[in-house]
Amino acid sequence: MTGKMYNEITLDLPLQEPDRQYYYMEKCRRHVHELEKEKGHALTFFVRTFGCQMNARDSEKLRGILLQAGLKECENEEADFVLYNTCTVRDNANQKVYGHLGYLQTLKKKNPAMKIALCGCMMQEPLVVERIKKSYCFVDLVFGTHNIYKLAELLYCCLTEKKMVVDVWDSAKAVVEDLPAVRKYPFKSGVNIMYGCNNFCSYCIVPYVRGRERSRDLEDILSEIRRLASGGVKEVMLLGQNVNSYGKTLAKPVSFAELLYQVNAVEGIERIRFMTSHPKDLSDGLIAAMRDCKKVCHHLHLPLQSGSSRILKVMNRCYTKEQYLDLVERIRAAIPDISLTTDIIVGFPGETKEDFEETLDVVQKVRFDSAFTFLYSKRAKTAAAEMENQVPEAVAKERFDRLLREVQQIASEVCGRDVNTVQPVLVECENDHQAGYVSGRLGNNLLVHFPGDASLVGQIVPVRLTNAKGFYYIGKSEKETEDGR
Ligand code: 5AD
Ligand code: SF4
Repeated sequence: MTGKMYNEITLDLPLQEPDRQYYYMEKCRRHVHELEKEKGHALTFFVRTFGCQMNARDSEKLRGILLQAGLKECENEEADFVLYNTCTVRDNANQKVYGHLGYLQTLKKKNPAMKIALCGCMMQEPLVVERIKKSYCFVDLVFGTHNIYKLAELLYCCLTEKKMVVDVWDSAKAVVEDLPAVRKYPFKSGVNIMYGCNNFCSYCIVPYVRGRERSRDLEDILSEIRRLASGGVKEVMLLGQNVNSYGKTLAKPVSFAELLYQVNAVEGIERIRFMTSHPKDLSDGLIAAMRDCKKVCHHLHLPLQSGSSRILKVMNRCYTKEQYLDLVERIRAAIPDISLTTDIIVGFPGETKEDFEETLDVVQKVRFDSAFTFLYSKRAKTAAAEMENQVPEAVAKERFDRLLREVQQIASEVCGRDVNTVQPVLVECENDHQAGYVSGRLGNNLLVHFPGDASLVGQIVPVRLTNAKGFYYIGKSEKETEDGR
């Protein structure tokens, strides 16, 4: 599929990005203003995000553009412009979107001027776009992962035309920086350090929908983080599909460890997280950087996928069970209080009872703080989709339930290990359920609820963890005790 739009705009406009998009934001603003005068009320938008942290970050950029385009954000789909940022990593993500589209159609019947837009990973699949064109003709705009920066231009097109606008690109043409973005929290932010993935794990659709690995320049990342810090951000989450291979393809190669040292030196930043690490690329240099950089949280998400060396080979993961266990040992030797989380797939083609037992064995040996478990889902174009010996659904489901019970049991035991210690907590919000309480996160990302008020939001507070509740803690601010309050 190419980037040809149904409706081409021919106007005298800046050719360079991001200027071209700022031009369209202004054009949208004027148009929206006219529409508002006509209708007598503000025009609203709503963005719903499906999927991972990368999509969540993309949605912040999309919302930033829509605000600049003059629309007001609202809290649900009863809006004039609804945008779904979709995921396709497993088939149930796609089914969810189709399900929601039915609901959007009923809303559009009530508000015929409503515009419906779809973007993100699922739209990179030609069969999906075909189905939308054929069966969901009430959709107004479709675009992919490589041109989200173009939303202002596409929105203008969509507001001024009646036909469905489709603009999906095969690959990234440019990395466009310096567009507006809004954040859910003023004190923490995701930062993309790389896009795409080159690993082609045999089950995974990501390399097909997000394209080849592209690292951002070190200086661009650092200046974004400095800007965030001067705007009050205390925590950054460095985002990429495979952060451990950051910088390998740059003209002047830089390692991820080096990036961590540099981010650690940015004044104002107090916590650094990153996601996701591939075990095959996790070097001793990176372990040392995690140990030495005081701001790097002691949390590592290290997807295992399977504990069977035979299955790992077919998955194209490039490590064995023993190498994974050895890596965990080296990490724990360097950072004893590290919190380890993982992803595991059950029911990969050809997985036998013995293979599954190997997975359980790794889970029992490592004792993850938490694990996301997934039933294998066949994805178009991937190597695994063509494999024989697809595991019957009932067998996979039974294994899945067994694994889930095991990881939950271990997680509830592991979670309590910091009880009675004092830990720094970044306070995120007032607690919805209990008046007079706030909620925040530990370095290992676990939630803590403790007595406090809105003035603490955005601050890092020392909290004594008094009760472990399985997947969260109840605590008491040490600040309060010192003050004698
Ligand atoms: N089926 C099931 N789970 C998958 N994942 C990726 N592709 C598939 C698939 N086809 C899981 C992996 C990955 C996480 C983001 O999603 O565990 O780490
Ligand atoms: Fe998918 Fe593997 Fe790339 Fe992760 S590393 S995005 S699982 S191909």
